[in-house]
Amino acid sequence: MTTDGTGTHGAILADTVPEGGDTPLVELRNAGKSYGNIRALHGVDLTVRPGQVTCVLGDNGAGKSTLIKIISGLHQHTEGEFLVDGCPVRFSTPREALDKGIATVYQDLATVPLMPVWRNFFLGSEMTKGPWPVRRLDIDRMKKTADQELRNMGIVLDDLEQPIGTLSGGQRQCVAIARAVYFGARVLILDEPTAALGVKQSGVVLKYIAAARDRGLGVIFITHNPHHAYMVGDHFSVLRLGTMELTASRDQVSLEELTNHMAGGTELAALKHELAQVRGVDVEELPEEKDLTAPVANPGEKAS
Ligand SMILES: Nc1ncnc2c1ncn2[C@@H]1O[C@H](COP(=O)(O)OP(=O)(O)OP(=O)(O)O)[C@@H](O)[C@H]1O
Ligand SMILES: [Mg+2]
Repeated sequence: MTTDGTGTHGAILADTVPEGGDTPLVELRNAGKSYGNIRALHGVDLTVRPGQVTCVLGDNGAGKSTLIKIISGLHQHTEGEFLVDGCPVRFSTPREALDKGIATVYQDLATVPLMPVWRNFFLGSEMTKGPWPVRRLDIDRMKKTADQELRNMGIVLDDLEQPIGTLSGGQRQCVAIARAVYFGARVLILDEPTAALGVKQSGVVLKYIAAARDRGLGVIFITHNPHHAYMVGDHFSVLRLGTMELTASRDQVSLEELTNHMAGGTELAALKHELAQVRGVDVEELPEEKDLTAPVANPGEKAS
């Protein structure tokens, strides 16, 4: 697919969005998904608003990927409602989600490692010039635009000619985020973008998540790291065994509470008991079962 791409697609999409006042970009109401007789997700409520980061946390197998597959059009929900701009939808392909401005950055990024950064930026939506049948790639404009867009997001790369495969995992995530923003994403879904990254690189990715949010996007940030979530999140949803165990805004939950919910407090306490029997394992840092019910430093009204 090619495009003349005279501006950002965002501008085009923004015009088509109904004036919605306080209408969320994306909303799940009591949504669920069964794979045959496996009920992977049920009773899930989620709201994504412009300029906010909604974090979805949960342990392995909790249903995080299933949740984003519904929103990104890869799978369909089998229970409840899924609304975009207040209208019920049921996407049959990721293309339909993309057309509504819902872009997903997967962990195994769909990039071509040996192609230059700027070429990957426009992959599948190249800019062209000249009339048919002598239409050709507008390389200069693509390079300039990619450079400008990356800079707009605060990403400065030495050389856009370098193969994207030579960038670090964190830098590639950042290019993917800038690309989604340029191509008009209103909702940006990030599936565990920091899972394979070191501390410093995670910090860089978190910075661009904040930059996307500041540009007015609604961000869905999937992670199982409560510290990363708490650094940028406005809203937190913790999934456990396919249901929402906790839904809370930032002022309703402290980092300790979030960590406890994530860790599965009682399970950890039981584990502490078991580990205490093993020589050479320091269990001091793990919570006692009684600690879990104790009031926290920053108690607030909680949803669960
Ligand atoms: N295509 C499928 N067919 C059958 N069951 C599935 C399918 N995809 C996921 N599941 C099941 O749904 C549940 C939730 O899986 P999901 O991949 O959404 O978890 P997750 O939170 O993303 O886990 P992880 O952190 O390991 O990525 C699991 O029990 C899984 O076995
Ligand atoms: Mg997953």
